[in-house]
Amino acid sequence: MSSTPDNFEPRIVAFLCNWCSYTGADLAGISRMNYPANVRAIRLMCSGSVKPFFIMSALHKGADGVLIGGCHIGDCHYQTGNHLTKKRIPITRELLGALGIDPRRVRLEWISAAEGQEFAEVIHEFVKELKALGPNPLAGGDHAH
Ligand code: FES
Repeated sequence: MSSTPDNFEPRIVAFLCNWCSYTGADLAGISRMNYPANVRAIRLMCSGSVKPFFIMSALHKGADGVLIGGCHIGDCHYQTGNHLTKKRIPITRELLGALGIDPRRVRLEWISAAEGQEFAEVIHEFVKELKALGPNPLAGGDHAH
């Protein structure tokens, strides 16, 4: 594998459900729990609306990692939206693996509106993992430093 520059800062696209994770992320920001700034949050009404295509597209556009954040099972505002997410994400990861993209670049987490601290921790962990993985090969060397 190619070596990773020390100053590599992974870019993360986070698809966050409006009702839980987005509020959790907001809380993490509001209460100044520090989480790395290299996260681009995209708010959706439910994690169930995150189509595999959205994930592929984010990676294709150069994201080093994609986080999908939804309500805990049983808490989805649309009842079973996150059940769909739970099924869909592993399939998407498998597909990515088959395409030669490390499935660890896609992460699914259940984060409630009150879990700002958890959100910050997830991001920290994810950044660490992505740093170890190095830049997304699909980014085509487009990483600005
Ligand atoms: S409303 Fe949050 S996962 Fe469905």
